[in-house]
Amino acid sequence: MTIKEIFETMDYGPAPENAAEALAWLVDQGSQFGHFINGDFTAPGTVFESKNPATGEVLAELTQATQKDVDAAVKAARAAQEGWAAMGGSGRATYLYAIARLLQKHSRLFAVLETLDNGKPIRESRDIDVPLVQRHFYHHAGHAQLMDDEMSDRAALGVCGQIIPWNFPLLMLAWKVAPALAMGNTVVLKPAEYTSLTALLFADICRQAGLPKGVVNIVTGDGAVGEMIVNAEVDKIAFTGSTSVGRKIREATAGSGKALTLELGGKSPYIVFDDADLDSAIEGLVDAIWFNQGQVCCAGSRLLVQEGVSERFHQKLRARMKTLRLGDPLDKCIDIGAVVDPVQHAEISRLVASATNCTVHQSAVNMPAKGCFFPPTLIEGLSPSDPLMQEEIFGPVLVSTTFRTPAEAVELANNTRYGLAATLWTENVNLALDVAPKLVAGVVWVNGTNMFDAAAPFGGVRESGFGREGGVEGLMAYTKPKAQSEALQPVVAFEGNAKGAAPEGIDRTAKMFVGGKQARPDSGYSRPVYGPKGDLLGHVGLGSRKDVRNAVEAANAAKGWAKTTGHLRAQILYYLAENLAARAGEFAARIDAMTGKGEGAAEVEASLQRLFSAAAWADKYDGLAHGVPIRGVALGMKEPVGTIGVLCADEAPLLGLVSAMAPAIAMGNRVVLAASEAFPLAATDLYQVLETSDVPAGVVNILTGPHKDLGDTMAKHLDIDAVWSFSSSDLSKMIEAASAGNLKRTWVNNGHAFDWSRDQSKRFLQAATEVKTVWIPYGE
Ligand code: NAI
Repeated sequence: MTIKEIFETMDYGPAPENAAEALAWLVDQGSQFGHFINGDFTAPGTVFESKNPATGEVLAELTQATQKDVDAAVKAARAAQEGWAAMGGSGRATYLYAIARLLQKHSRLFAVLETLDNGKPIRESRDIDVPLVQRHFYHHAGHAQLMDDEMSDRAALGVCGQIIPWNFPLLMLAWKVAPALAMGNTVVLKPAEYTSLTALLFADICRQAGLPKGVVNIVTGDGAVGEMIVNAEVDKIAFTGSTSVGRKIREATAGSGKALTLELGGKSPYIVFDDADLDSAIEGLVDAIWFNQGQVCCAGSRLLVQEGVSERFHQKLRARMKTLRLGDPLDKCIDIGAVVDPVQHAEISRLVASATNCTVHQSAVNMPAKGCFFPPTLIEGLSPSDPLMQEEIFGPVLVSTTFRTPAEAVELANNTRYGLAATLWTENVNLALDVAPKLVAGVVWVNGTNMFDAAAPFGGVRESGFGREGGVEGLMAYTKPKAQSEALQPVVAFEGNAKGAAPEGIDRTAKMFVGGKQARPDSGYSRPVYGPKGDLLGHVGLGSRKDVRNAVEAANAAKGWAKTTGHLRAQILYYLAENLAARAGEFAARIDAMTGKGEGAAEVEASLQRLFSAAAWADKYDGLAHGVPIRGVALGMKEPVGTIGVLCADEAPLLGLVSAMAPAIAMGNRVVLAASEAFPLAATDLYQVLETSDVPAGVVNILTGPHKDLGDTMAKHLDIDAVWSFSSSDLSKMIEAASAGNLKRTWVNNGHAFDWSRDQSKRFLQAATEVKTVWIPYGE
């Protein structure tokens, strides 16, 4: 027999990983678990079963946490937090290194336990999940070490509630726990009810590492326990899971002052151009949609192929599908394991069964007769609006369609409410780097897919959530500025006296500023503005929902601003500052007349400085190139958030507006500004300055009227991407709750005054940008 013949006739033999040690560990623990609170395991309470989805066998029993358990965990975390933060970064780094080392030492045990519990192939848990977990702890041990020097103006948030899903049980734990601990926070983490075992093993590792009691607490149970954590006295909620639960958490935490990051679903496009290396693209696609049985938030689940190669590509794909082997996840020879639970299996089956007017292609090589297995599935011929093209299936199901031109590919790719990830394949570097910035996604992979690293920020835009995990952006989400802010004081408009309110000869009603033009309020109503002594200073329009809509339309028409260069935006901001400087006296007098504080001149000067700062930053607030341990580089590109609605501060009528507007437009955003409600006339005077500057129409829009009404409309508006509220009425709860609709980013004051006297441009620049991580091949 020749070697060729041997290869051709050789069949697969099973190569199972030995599960004895992992099973023995479970038995050692009594096969029943309580929670891990304050450094110890509690006695089991009311238990539920945790099963191996590949066999249906019960692996262990887990405790459904009660309110008392959650309270005890939060209390322990709270008690430990001060000491943990005070220990200093290098002290914390020692523990994180120790955890990383122990994870390495027990890596096989973790991998096998993960596969038993989740159903993912052992090749994946062993070669991808567990090494990435170790990498995360090593990387963040370094961040802890550097924090005191590099982030000396930032402090830990406090106690963090962390709720994670079942698709990457240990990896999601690492993504949440490592940065939180590095920055001096303590945590209460809830793993998903299907997959809690590696989290409990991790708890054991924390004990072995001698981690101070209460720094890590783990409670188990279902969504009800998640809700308890969300409502507990914690300082932050970090959630990964479905968009629907993410939305509920946004509503539940509204106005509570809790920081929030949401990493939610996706329907990520996988784009294959006609010049791509098709065989590589096929292998990439196997990773994109069949890695972890497609139960991946950033799975390349929507295939878009250029027409010229579509037939050939689909033929190759169908042929490749025939070689994908399903089976025992512990077998090193299988490609596809079990989906996590019969509930998920039923949901995937229901969605696939609902497919109409299309071709469904399935391949089931070696499919076991029993267990939670779902064959790799390809659905062709769906229309772009079909629910299966739009909704996350979260299983090994790929939907596909074709496109003709790159522009059409971009349009199809972005035709989704999500924005988590995107993959593109082409041999043409110009095309790749032209298309990558146009994709609305937090992560873009070029000629590769599903690559992750602790140094590279990961997270979405649109309804895929907000916040980043990994990289410096991930650390920002676990810290707050050290400077303490004071309580917010309501600022109310002055009342008029009879003399001042007398009718005048000329109408001095200021209009709105929308799309570069002055416009009357839609309501047709206005209100008088009085000075501190009751003298009438003018009238302003009462803006309403329609005015917000018009302003957003104008802002959206000015999208081109995002594509201008920082160099150009800097010049425009300098010019704006010059125009304001030319009228400094007038503005100072106006502010003094409105507020009576005599601080007008200083406020104008500070506003000029903010404009100059924003101009300075416009071409310097750059992204980073992240060194990642593969043959590539991950570019952290800063992109504008989009259209930002701002309720401007009352305590500094001009400075508050300028401090928010200038960095926002410097980064390429468009703004809809609601002028100070009590003192709006400095904002309305600014129209003329804007008109004589080179700011394109629609980039800055200014409305006047009640913050409550304008803020409510902004927060609900589906074409506004972020709302910032510095209003002196605390509208945090209303804005955060209403923002759940399209999961827009919010920055609200939660009862704290902003210190306008300090130049805090960096905080605004950060809020005005999203980082997009673009992975490109690079180096040897
Ligand atoms: P889920 O979002 O319900 O569960 C994720 C985590 O949230 C679990 O720990 C769960 O116990 C907890 N949870 C559930 N309800 C909660 C609530 N009201 N408050 C706080 N925590 C709560 O996801 P599920 O039901 O397991 O999967 C359903 C679908 O969600 C999947 O088919 C998939 O489409 C999507 N999903 C997306 C994930 C992602 O990474 N983007 C991960 C898991 C699920």
